[in-house]
Amino acid sequence: MKTVLTYGTFDTLHYGHIRLFERAKALGDRLIVGLSTDAFNARKGKQSHFDYEERKKLLEAIRYIDLIIPEHNWNQKAEDVKTHKVDVFTMGDDWAGKFDFLSDYCEVIYLSRTPDVSSTMIKDNIPKV
Ligand code: CTP
Repeated sequence: MKTVLTYGTFDTLHYGHIRLFERAKALGDRLIVGLSTDAFNARKGKQSHFDYEERKKLLEAIRYIDLIIPEHNWNQKAEDVKTHKVDVFTMGDDWAGKFDFLSDYCEVIYLSRTPDVSSTMIKDNIPKV
């Protein structure tokens, strides 16, 4: 049983996210997603359109994902890798090099980012209510 872990906010779920999940799951047998909490996003200066519970509900409907855990801070990744016996850590290549320190604990793989789609792009086009 090979376990894969990835993190993100996954706001306004889109095609780039689904492609990321599909390829992440194909790296192993079980995919865990660390979903950024609203408090963590606020500390990063980000505000999502959908709150944590809404974003979680969307991810629960995706067949590639086996478990969703909260991401509360930048420093929990090594502990999560150990706790969940993770074999592969993966992120899109906009993060290339940033998480290489996790290679002490597991394999680290950066996947190519899907061009021309992002949560920011979608949010910029949602009318404010
Ligand atoms: N991702 C991707 N392709 C995209 C957008 C995101 O592969 N077109 C990946 C990122 O590389 C990351 C994960 O999806 O590993 C979560 O990214 P997230 O920041 O939640 O999504 P973005 O659309 O990049 O959001 P934002 O515009 O707020 O940066």
